[in-house]
Amino acid sequence: MSEITYQYIRDYLMAIEPDDNMIIRKIRNEALNNNVPIIKSEVKNLLRFLLATKRPSRILEIGTAVGYSSIIMSDFITTNGKIITIERSEDMIKNAKENIKKAQKEHIITLLEGDAGNILSTLEDEFDVIFMDAAKGQYLTFLPECLRLLKTGGLLICDNVLQNGTVAKSRFSVPRRQRTIHNRMREYLWQLNHNKNLQTSILPIADGVTLSYKK
Ligand SMILES: C[S@@+](CC[C@H](N)C(=O)[O-])C[C@H]1O[C@@H](n2cnc3c(N)ncnc32)[C@H](O)[C@@H]1O
Repeated sequence: MSEITYQYIRDYLMAIEPDDNMIIRKIRNEALNNNVPIIKSEVKNLLRFLLATKRPSRILEIGTAVGYSSIIMSDFITTNGKIITIERSEDMIKNAKENIKKAQKEHIITLLEGDAGNILSTLEDEFDVIFMDAAKGQYLTFLPECLRLLKTGGLLICDNVLQNGTVAKSRFSVPRRQRTIHNRMREYLWQLNHNKNLQTSILPIADGVTLSYKK
């Protein structure tokens, strides 16, 4: 059982899910076999629901891994729309490129290679949706750039914000080496909730997901 959700409920919800197409299933299975951390099923479904209602033309993703979530999101982009996704790991970049090609999404998804800490400040166009799924300790640092790049009426979605529930526990109960990240994530969630330009909901699903609407 995860600290946030009950395994039997997750199992049941997964059992009644419609099948994904073969390419998506293959990318997911390969990722799981290679211990690549991709979005969980609940997050996949949430993204699909949100993007189906929003129909964005431009999405920014921070943390491509092997391209799984980008490929999922690409089904909901408007004609001529684009996804920009950022990844710094060379191994991930290689696999992501192959997967994006196999899924025939090269005309929609552009992979920017390098550290988001350097790349974000070079981006100029605004986005309808930003999906933050990179190193958790950096969310706080990336927030000002994300807010600059998010359109009014846009949606900022962040994954893994509850860190298996530890974020909700006292800092003294987490190992010393994890305290900095614990502090930073708490500060991040506080800022999302108290930013007057955002309307935020923190969902205790998967490993914790935030949804913030830019007013
Ligand atoms: C959780 S995985 C992303 C999973 C992906 N969104 C999916 O669900 O298919 C996080 C990825 O972010 C990348 N990453 C972490 N920090 C980063 C940074 N500062 N700049 C670019 N990539 C980063 C990691 O290398 C890793 O591949």
